[in-house]
Amino acid sequence: MSEPAISFEPPRGMRDFYPDDMVWRNHVFEAWRAAATQAGFAPYDACVVESLELLERKSGEEVSEQIYAFEDKSGRKLALRPEMTPTLARMIAARQGQLQFPIKWFTIAQCFRYERMTRGRKREHYQWNLDVVGEASVSAEAEILAAAAAALRRMGLPDSAYQIRINNRALLAELLATLGIPGHQHAAVFLALDKRGKLSDDEIGQSLLAAGLSHETVAKAFDLLAIRSLDQAGAIVGANSAALADLRELMRLADLYGITDRLVFDIGVIRGLAYYTGIVFEAFDTAGQFRAIFGGGRYDSLLTTIGGAPTPAVGLGFGDVVVVEVLKACCGETAAAVRSGVAVGYMFQEQREAATRLAIRLRAEGNRVDLSLAPQKPKAFFSRAGSGTAAHAVFIGPDDLIRGHAKLKNLETRDESEIALAPAIPV
Ligand code: HAM
Repeated sequence: MSEPAISFEPPRGMRDFYPDDMVWRNHVFEAWRAAATQAGFAPYDACVVESLELLERKSGEEVSEQIYAFEDKSGRKLALRPEMTPTLARMIAARQGQLQFPIKWFTIAQCFRYERMTRGRKREHYQWNLDVVGEASVSAEAEILAAAAAALRRMGLPDSAYQIRINNRALLAELLATLGIPGHQHAAVFLALDKRGKLSDDEIGQSLLAAGLSHETVAKAFDLLAIRSLDQAGAIVGANSAALADLRELMRLADLYGITDRLVFDIGVIRGLAYYTGIVFEAFDTAGQFRAIFGGGRYDSLLTTIGGAPTPAVGLGFGDVVVVEVLKACCGETAAAVRSGVAVGYMFQEQREAATRLAIRLRAEGNRVDLSLAPQKPKAFFSRAGSGTAAHAVFIGPDDLIRGHAKLKNLETRDESEIALAPAIPV
C-alpha cells in the first residue's frame, strides 16, 4: 500500500512566502529599516531559540501560555521566542557594564506563538522591534512613536487611516490606589481588564475576584474604564500626578513631531504583557476593522526582574501580518508591486546569443534583467513579462538581428524605443 500523500500546506498557522507575498514583506521590511535607520536606531539580532526560563513569566499572560516549548537532546528546556523583549533584556544585561546608555536598537524578529487562529493572528510572524533602553523621560516614547508613524507613511498608509491609542499603567495604578486596591494586586487587575473584548465582563469580574478584589471594588474598577479624557482622570488622581504629567508631556512632544492628529488617550489600552510599568500604546486602523497594528510601552523593571541593574526602557513591537491586511484594504492588493528592470526574450534559437549578450550588457549597466531561457512565441513572452515585475521588455526576432536593433517596450505605457544589439563577434 502506498503511503498517504503529504499535505502541501505549511503546518497550521505557519507561513510560506511566494514571490507575490515577498513583494509585500519586502515593502514592509524596507519601510521598517529605513524609518529605524533615519531615527538613529542601530540594528541587532539574536537567536530564535531561547531558554524557556527567560520567557516564562507570571500566569495570566496570554503569551506565556502560547509558547512553543521543547527539550533538546540534552534535556535543556528551550522555546521558540514569542517576542523579542526578554531576549533584548538578556542581551543588555549581559553587557550592561560596557554599553553606552541610552541605547537605541531595532530588529526584525521572527516570532512564534501558539495562538487561536483569527484574522490578523498567525502562529508565526515577523515583528519590528524598536527599543530605547536607559532613558527615563518620555523623549524616548516620542522618538519611538514618531519612527513608527514614519514607517507607516513610508508604507503608503495615509495618516488618517490609523490612530495610536495611548495610556499609562502608572496612571491606572494611581486610579486603582484611589479605590484602595493595593499595589501587589495591580498586575492581576491590568491583565484581567486587558481581556475586555475577548472575555465577557462576567468572566473578567470572576478573575478580579480571584485576584482578591471585593465585589464592590470590581464594579469600581470597571467604572474607571469610562474615563474619557486626561482632565477626567486628573479630577480623580489630583494635579500632582506624575503619570498624568508624563502623558501631557508626551502629547506636547508629539505635537513637535507632527503626529498629534493620530494620538488618542484611551484608558482601555492596558496591554497584555506583565512587564509594562508606564506609558503603553497600541495602533489601530481608524475604521476599527483589524487587530492592533503595533503595540508597546515602558518596561522599567524588566532588566531587574531578570537579574540586571535597574534600567528604564521603552519599546514597540510592530507585526507584519495586520499592517499588510490594512494596506491591502486601503491601497489595493498590488499597491506594493514596483516594476523595475527588463525582460529579454527571443523568437528562435538563432537569436539566443544576441539576447544573452544584451542581457549581460544591461546587467553590467546595473539593470535587473530577466532573460528567457528558451525561444518563445511573442505572445507567450509578452504575457509572461506583463504579469511579471519587469518595467520594460525586449523581444528579439530574426529581423531585429539583421537591423542590429530591437524594440524596448515600456510594459505599463506600451511606449516603444529602439535599443542597439551588440554586433556578433565573428568566430
Ligand atoms: P505584542 O503586543 O504582544 O507586544 O505584539 C506586538 C505586535 O506584534 C502586535 O501589535 C502585532 O502587530 C504583532 N503580533 C503579535 N502576535 C502576533 C501574531 N500571533 N500574529 C501576527 N502578528 C502578531 C510585544 O510582543 C512586545 N514585546 C512589544 C515590545 C517591544 N514592547 C516593548 N518592546
